Order: sequence, then structure tokens, then C-alpha cells
Amino acid sequence: MYSFHELADIVQNEIKNLKYPQQPELLYAPIVYSLEEGGKRIRPVALLMACNLFRDEIDCAKPAALAVEVFHNFTLLHDDIMDRSDTRRGKPAVHTRWNDNVAILSGDAMMIYAYKLLCGCDRRVLPQLLETFNETAIGVCEGQQYDMDFESRDDVTVDRYLEMIRLKTGVLLAGALKLGAICAEAQPWQAELLYNFGINVGLAFQLQDDLFDTYGDAAVFGKPIGGDILAGKKTFLLTTALKTADAATRGELLARLHDGGMSAAEKIETVRGIYDRLGVRKITEKAIADYFRNADRILNSLEVGIERIVPLQELGETLLNRKK
Ligand code: IPE
Ligand code: IPE
Ligand code: MG
Ligand code: MG
Ligand code: MG
Repeated sequence: MYSFHELADIVQNEIKNLKYPQQPELLYAPIVYSLEEGGKRIRPVALLMACNLFRDEIDCAKPAALAVEVFHNFTLLHDDIMDRSDTRRGKPAVHTRWNDNVAILSGDAMMIYAYKLLCGCDRRVLPQLLETFNETAIGVCEGQQYDMDFESRDDVTVDRYLEMIRLKTGVLLAGALKLGAICAEAQPWQAELLYNFGINVGLAFQLQDDLFDTYGDAAVFGKPIGGDILAGKKTFLLTTALKTADAATRGELLARLHDGGMSAAEKIETVRGIYDRLGVRKITEKAIADYFRNADRILNSLEVGIERIVPLQELGETLLNRKK
């Protein structure tokens, strides 16, 4: 059985060994740049862990693990254009380092590479893998579109928000775990349980991402702080604030968010001040802990040896304590 750190090293090495053509340089150089070290690699690691729950040999799952990581990085290239976000992993985003067109087309090529990698899996399980991968990929697109739609709406409830992040973030982690289970030829009910575990961890993960976007340390987080507030993103923090606030505070919050005359720094500071008054940070931290607890409970019903779930438990704990 592989430990968390062994799997992280395996993933890192496999990504380093991926080869791309030299030309056209502006198509391939951004792919290498975006896959360089700096990402946490949680999705491919989770995929290999899922496979390793049922099988000692994980080579069969490596192409799928790489496919998921390349796909994830593709979504980030396009996401940073859509979110007008200039920094990722402490470095210029691809569209900042080059330009939007480069990030769009390199992103497209990465999506195709993801499918090429996935096709390296065993033919016997490939149809099932493709079905899960397709469902996952379209789910992410749906989530991303809801995320954009919600920017210009003020009536987004916490529940609608949760459904949006289930799609934009939850399904990729959940899909990765399910792909790992399929590679190992686990029972379908076990693959579904892992999917559910992934949804819960994914929801917690996106809530943390929202929290760091407002309260994080930019140097550690590697992304700009306050971008969600400036873009009018309907985050867990904002939807919770709108739900918790009395009518006067809700009006004040919406007025600040729509205030075109304020500087960016001033707007971030003021909105954060309202969140502080409403205790939004504590509410978010509690919701994060609840989702991680749900996830842990699900793991315990997998009916594999108790020692085999340890790496996935460690993954959950590491994520619970993450700062970036
Ligand atoms: C960023 O994902 C996108 C979200 C779903 C919040 P990660 O935080 O996993 O990004 P990297 O790959 O580790 O940089
Ligand atoms: C990311 O959501 C979801 C996807 C990239 C699919 P965010 O827009 O919050 O991710 P970051 O914060 O830019 O990484
Ligand atoms: Mg973004
Ligand atoms: Mg986004
Ligand atoms: Mg974010």
C-alpha cells in the first residue's frame, strides 16, 4: 500500500515526464508552464488512493490520474480568464504571462491531451472510464456557467450556491475517485461511495477556497485576495451573509458590492468588515468541518480493511488543515 507522500511523489514524477512537441511554442510552452510544480495534485493523488484501496498495483490507474490533473489545469487556464484573475500559484496566470488567446488554445489542447492520456488505460475499463470522465467534464462546465451567471444576480441562495460548487469543484474530485475505483475494478456501489466521499470533500474544499479568497494570506494562497468580492462572486461567504443579515445590513452589503466609486482595496475592506460583523467566518469554518466529517463517515462504510482507508483519511486531514 502506498502512503500519501509516496503517491504525491509518483504523481509529480509522472507529470514531469510528460512530453510535448516543441512547436508551435505558444501552444505547448504554456502547458509545460501550467503543469510545473506548485499545484497540490490532490485529484490525481485521490484517484491513485481510490485504486490502491482495492489493489496493490496502481500502474493501471496512472494514465487516468494524469488525465485528471491535465484536465484540472486546463480548467484553471480558462477560469483565470473568466475570473479576470492575474496570479496563480504565486506566478502570473497563463493569460497574464502570454495573452487570452494563448490561454484559450493551450487550454483546449490540454483538454484533448487529457483524453489522450485517459485512452492509455486498459481497454476493458475504458468505456466506463470515458463515461465517467465525460459526465465529470460536462458537470464542471455547467458549474462554471452557473458561477458566471451568479455574478450578476443578488438572489442566489446558499443552496443554489452549493449546487453550483458541487458541479464546478465537487464532481472533479468525486469523478477522480470513481475513476480510480473503476481502474481497480471495484464494485459499483464502492465506486459510488467514493464518489460521494469526493463530493463532500470537494464542497469543503471550495468553501475553504472561498474563505481564503477573502481571509487568506496572498503569499501562501498564491492567488489574489479579494478577487471574489470584486467580481461579485456568489461565494459561501456572501450567500451566507445575505441570508444571515437583517434588512438594513443586507441593503448595506449590496450597496457596497455595487458601489462603482470605491477603490478595490476599500471595497474588499468594507465587505470583509460586514462579514466580520455577521460572524460569517465562523459559520464557514463550521460548514467546512461538517463536510469533512460527512466524508470521513462515508469512508468507514466502504467495507475494505480498516488500514486501507488510512491514506484517504490523511488526505482529508491534510486538506482540513490547508492554508493554500
Ligand atoms: C483550484 O484548485 C480550483 C478550485 C477548485 C478551488 P486547487 O486548489 O486544487 O489548485 P492547485 O492545482 O492546487 O493549484
Ligand atoms: C474554480 O473556482 C473552479 C474551476 C476552476 C473549475 P474558482 O474560480 O474559485 O477557483 P480559483 O480560486 O480561481 O482557483
Ligand atoms: Mg477563479
Ligand atoms: Mg472561477
Ligand atoms: Mg476561488
